[in-house]
Amino acid sequence: MKPNAIVFTSSTGHTEQYARLLGSRIGLRVFSLREAEKSLSAGTSVLYLGWIHASHVKGYADAAKRFRVCAVCGVGLCDTGTLLAEVRKATTIPAQTPLFTLQGGIDRSRLKGMNKLMISMLTKGLASQKQRTAQEERMLTLLQSDANYVCAENLNGIQRWFEKEVTYI
Ligand SMILES: Cc1cc2nc3c(=O)[nH]c(=O)nc-3n(C[C@H](O)[C@H](O)[C@H](O)COP(=O)(O)O)c2cc1C
Repeated sequence: MKPNAIVFTSSTGHTEQYARLLGSRIGLRVFSLREAEKSLSAGTSVLYLGWIHASHVKGYADAAKRFRVCAVCGVGLCDTGTLLAEVRKATTIPAQTPLFTLQGGIDRSRLKGMNKLMISMLTKGLASQKQRTAQEERMLTLLQSDANYVCAENLNGIQRWFEKEVTYI
């Protein structure tokens, strides 16, 4: 199914950056979920991007209630293309809906309330561990670095999927 628009939910901006980059690459209009609820008719086919919180793609359930979600992108700290099974399960994304994960980043200056507290607790917890696995070490570096990993190359997989959908129409 070919999407007619891109809809996103972003807390600190990484998912919005990916949504706008993708929109300019594949020529689709881009809306935040709130804007989309006002501007797009119910049942419109959309490609949905949401940030990942505890393996769950934020806003997916609301987007799926109102729109036909053709594919989902979760933006998290995880490496691009990883965590797929966990995210699909936690978000209850149907098996037939394509799912992609994209590495976003951390921007502490834009984190608020409970989200800020959770990241701070996770960072302190990992930093205070006497021993860390290689994965925990990498996660700690990511959490402490305030890095932005958004890049156009990470969108190659979703772009290939989109081009295939357009060809089949
Ligand atoms: C409270 C909290 C929980 C998070 N949980 C996960 C997670 O389970 N997996 C993951 O890969 N990233 C997780 N992240 C990282 C965010 O998904 C990442 O910072 C993402 O780039 C945020 O996107 P945004 O800037 O569009 O809001 C979490 C971030 C916060 C603040």
